[in-house]
Amino acid sequence: MNKRVVIIGTQWGDEGKGKITDYLANQADVVVRSQGGNNAGHTIIFNNNKFALHLIPSGIFNPNIINIMANGMVINPQALLQEIDALKTRGITDFKLYISDRAHVVMPYHIDLDGLFEDIKGENAVGTTKKGIGPAYADKVSRIGIRMSDLLDENTLGKKLEVSLEFANILLSAKNCKIYTKEELLAVYLEYGRDLKKYICDTSMLLNKEIDFGKNILFEGAQGSMLCIDHGTYPYVTSSSPTSASIPLNTGIAPNLINEVIGVTKAYTTRVGEGVFPTEFIDDVSDTIRKIGKEYGTTTGRPRRIGWLDMVVLKHVKRINGLTGLGIMLLDVLTGVEKIKICTSYSLDGKEIDYIPADYEQYKRCVPIFEEYPGWKENITKVRSFDELPENCKNYLRNIEKKSEVNIAIFSVGPDREQTVMLKNIF
Ligand code: GDP
Ligand code: IMO
Ligand code: MG
Repeated sequence: MNKRVVIIGTQWGDEGKGKITDYLANQADVVVRSQGGNNAGHTIIFNNNKFALHLIPSGIFNPNIINIMANGMVINPQALLQEIDALKTRGITDFKLYISDRAHVVMPYHIDLDGLFEDIKGENAVGTTKKGIGPAYADKVSRIGIRMSDLLDENTLGKKLEVSLEFANILLSAKNCKIYTKEELLAVYLEYGRDLKKYICDTSMLLNKEIDFGKNILFEGAQGSMLCIDHGTYPYVTSSSPTSASIPLNTGIAPNLINEVIGVTKAYTTRVGEGVFPTEFIDDVSDTIRKIGKEYGTTTGRPRRIGWLDMVVLKHVKRINGLTGLGIMLLDVLTGVEKIKICTSYSLDGKEIDYIPADYEQYKRCVPIFEEYPGWKENITKVRSFDELPENCKNYLRNIEKKSEVNIAIFSVGPDREQTVMLKNIF
């Protein structure tokens, strides 16, 4: 039966969404990125090749797959052209890529404003990727944004640039930053438009046609649900919604078309950037996890903060996304950890709670309450079935299922495509 499957991150990003999307892509006909931009960094490893994708969907390696960058994305055309070139240089020349005419464009002044806003926030800075994502979405909502279709028409682009620049330059000049002229941007962005024209179309129409043909569709989430602008740890979040609920809006399909929502979850937790992270810990064990898990940002190279798995977070994320299955990732990284912890609730001002407070200051005061599980020492990187796992590892996974009330559909014991075990047919 044909299906529409959503892959989402259940934590603060970097859960292994790229790996799972690439793995499941062989059963899909279409792979769609719906939100975010090149703040994302998705690592894919197969046949001794390692790729880091930022904007392009992870189905790009299969020439039969239609890859869609949908209307909810914000796209830096220069970065996209570089990403396409980098793939071509590495022999990925035969691919199908489509870009929504309604996706918004990240302009150079958005990048400058991203840095400027972070500077102004000072010690309250979000720790953004400084890719201009927030200011590009802000322009979209302020109705002064530039869309991909605008890059195809000199008159339209000229007019839109005038308006957009008027606002950007007020802010930039007030802080003595470089201001931009229409003339310096117009020619360059028209050129990007010419280069990208062959990919730009109404992707909602394309996607719905493929659905009508009975094709399998895979939606590749970027960021994680805890970075959601609405349901995440506001204000330390990204500026889009990386939840399953955002998929219909951001791609132009009907909400009732989604069949499966796979929540990609690290066997522990990481976070890059600032913001509350109740289960974070800093000691020899976290250092070892960072080293073995190579926990450094794919986009910015920043060391990722390390914490234990948090069931309050996972249940919150299950509720807002309607998870139908879990993908448990980087399980191999926990090999050798003597005692593994799972946070089951928080203590807030002496009271036990099992929800995430909206008030950021309250959330900061939450102290995790842990259960402890005995670890395992066996190397599991060659395991290819649940039965082959050490007993303590099986026990850890069973407890994740029990506590989250979501079945594990897939688990991962290494970064390579091969190091993946399916427990349930997803398509
Ligand atoms: P994404 O943003 O969710 O796609 O995740 P990233 O690619 O940013 O980060 C996940 C990291 O974990 C990458 O370096 C992957 O190669 C790596 N990875 C994914 N699954 C596994 C796994 O099961 N074991 C190990 N050791 N690494 C993994
Ligand atoms: P993937 O798709 C991890 C974080 C940034 C920062 C916050 C806001 O690889 O999982 P932004 O530049 O979006 O305005 O930054 O969000 N962030 C991510 N963290 N993985 C990502 O993407 C992220 N995209 C944004 O570190 O804390
Ligand atoms: Mg990433």
